[in-house]
Amino acid sequence: MRSVIDILDLSVEELDELLAVAQDIIDNPEKYQNACAHKKLATLFFEPSTRTRLSFEAAMYELGGNVLSVTGGNTSSVAKGESVADTAKTVSCYADIIAMRHPKEGAALVAANNASIPVINAGDGGHCHPTQTLADLLTIKREKGGFDGLTIGLCGDLKFGRTVHSLINAMSRYRDIRFILVSPEELKLPSYVKNETLKKYGLPYVQTNDLLEHLPEMDVLYMTRVQRERFFNEEDYLRLKDTYVLTPDKLKTAKSDLCIMHPLPRVNEISVAIDNDPRACYFKQVLNGKYMRMALILKLLKEAAV
Ligand code: NCD
Repeated sequence: MRSVIDILDLSVEELDELLAVAQDIIDNPEKYQNACAHKKLATLFFEPSTRTRLSFEAAMYELGGNVLSVTGGNTSSVAKGESVADTAKTVSCYADIIAMRHPKEGAALVAANNASIPVINAGDGGHCHPTQTLADLLTIKREKGGFDGLTIGLCGDLKFGRTVHSLINAMSRYRDIRFILVSPEELKLPSYVKNETLKKYGLPYVQTNDLLEHLPEMDVLYMTRVQRERFFNEEDYLRLKDTYVLTPDKLKTAKSDLCIMHPLPRVNEISVAIDNDPRACYFKQVLNGKYMRMALILKLLKEAAV
């Protein structure tokens, strides 16, 4: 059974196909109104979420399907000590596809190995978040026209930020990509992402704690929240949380067509004064996420049917 746990589970050709389907959904929404009629998506969210869960659910409704939902560890049998494996086996009896978010790295893989229906990873701890990357890719494609030749700045919590890990993995497969990794020392990109992606494929990157130094070179700036829930102590979080706050004056040296992104939720990383700047793309990402999730649900249900 085909599941999507990591963005690398999808080939570049499949990403192209998903991007094309998402664009077709945008252009011809009526064509897809009943595409998933009588199908059920189960959203199992054991960690807080607004966008990801609602976007999966809106996606399924817009495809004419239905949704079964579990939110929070306290309302399901997980609170009684049920394992992820048993939950996945159980939900497979009710639904046609699962989207799961869980605080433990690897939980979505365990679910996929035990479910008899496709599982989509909606975020597993500090590991990865492939469908946020689908939203990010459609946004970059629509704003920049394509992926090759881009200089991408990633700023904030590169250690625990799972959206960062997935985006780097996805972008590493395009041509002439350059990364500028901006973070405090304590929140640097994990060495497994550096070794298994950046170094392995010889991708050029700069590591710095100074956002302004390389800002003029960036085509995309991906801001991220410091991931409070993954810290071991509150003191470190409080010390690091406001390291980078993007304000209009800091953008003076940036490109006029810079694409400013953020997976959201925003805490304090981007001043609201930037929201009306034409370069602000973070709410476009939200909408694009719904279209890409529609395309992904369609694809996985189609494959499961054969
Ligand atoms: C992200 C996540 O959950 O990893 N949010 C999202 O899904 N859009 C980013 C975050 O929580 O900071």
